[in-house]
Parts: sequence; structure tokens; C-alpha cells
Amino acid sequence: MNRFVPALALTAFASAGLAGAALGHGGVSNPMVMARMEAMSAIAAEVKTLTKMARGEVAFDAAEVTRAMEAIATTGAQVPALFEAPETDPKSEASPTIWVNYPEFTQRAAAMIEAAEAGVGAGDEFALDAALGTLGQTCKSCHGSFKIQN
Ligand code: HEC
Repeated sequence: MNRFVPALALTAFASAGLAGAALGHGGVSNPMVMARMEAMSAIAAEVKTLTKMARGEVAFDAAEVTRAMEAIATTGAQVPALFEAPETDPKSEASPTIWVNYPEFTQRAAAMIEAAEAGVGAGDEFALDAALGTLGQTCKSCHGSFKIQN
């Protein structure tokens, strides 16, 4: 039962990763926009690692869970400052509503940090899966209001 499912999931991750790279950073000329995209990509890379672990595709490693969750919280702490100036770029997917309702934006960032910190120390795949579920909701919540969907 374990033999085929992970291979399919990995294929999905690989294509998602390629799509992200192609859509994300190519042709971005504003370095401020590039910096905030790179922070998001770094967060997403940690989530990807943790998701593979929760699914049993890579061995569960409690120390790695803690490192990745802390990395998400640390990068998340930079998000308000990275997005504070209303910088634009033709490649940016940031919604202008960020700068209409910046306090709300910072609250969504705080929710992500809190969820990542709550995931520190998740002791097995099940706890990690639950923590990722909560964390994933905080990504969706902010993207739903503040990221242009395409
Ligand atoms: C506080 C709001 C907020 C939170 C929380 C948030 N994001 Fe984002 N994210 C954004 C915005 C805004 C953009 C668009 C940035 C741009 O294109 O200028 C973005 C862009 C991205 C991108 C595309 C980056 C690129 O290269 O263009 C990825 C991937 C991403 N987020 C993943 C995540 C994940 C995973 C989480 C949760 C663990 C998360 N984000 C949490 C606001 C947020």
C-alpha cells in the first residue's frame, strides 16, 4: 500500500515546485518584491519538507520538525516589514488591499507565526499532520484576502 502512493505524491510536489519556480521569480525587477517573494518561497519550502514527513514519504525526525517550524516562525516574523512598503512589480501577486488594511495583514502574519510555534515539538506524524493543518489554514486565510489568485 505504501509503495505507489508516495511516488504519486512526489510527482505532484515536483510539478508544483516547477510551476512555482516558473511563475514566481522570473523577471521580477523590484528587489523589494523579490525579497518578499523569497521569504514566502522559503516558508513554502519548509512546509513541503514537513508535509513529506507527515505523509511518511521521508522519515519522521522530531529535531527537523522543530528546526523547520522555528524557521517558518522566524521568516514569518519578517513578513510585516517585508510587505510594509507598497512596492509593486508586474510579476507581483500582492493585492493592493495589503496597504489598505495593513493591520489586518500583520495579524494574519502573527497567526502564521503562532501556528508554526505551536507545531514545534510535534512528536509524531499525526501531531505533525494536525499542526500542518492549522498552519495551512493561516496561509490560506492571508492569501484569500491579500494575494491575487490566478
Ligand atoms: C500575512 C499574509 C501571508 C501569510 C500568512 C502567508 N502568505 Fe504567502 N504570500 C502572501 C502574499 C501577499 C504573497 C504575494 C507576494 C508578491 O507576489 O508580491 C504571497 C506569496 C506566496 C508564494 C509565492 C511566492 C513567489 O515566489 O511568488 C508562496 C509559495 C507562498 N506565499 C506560500 C505561503 C505559505 C506556504 C504560507 C503559510 C505557511 C504563506 N504563504 C503564508 C501573503 C501571505
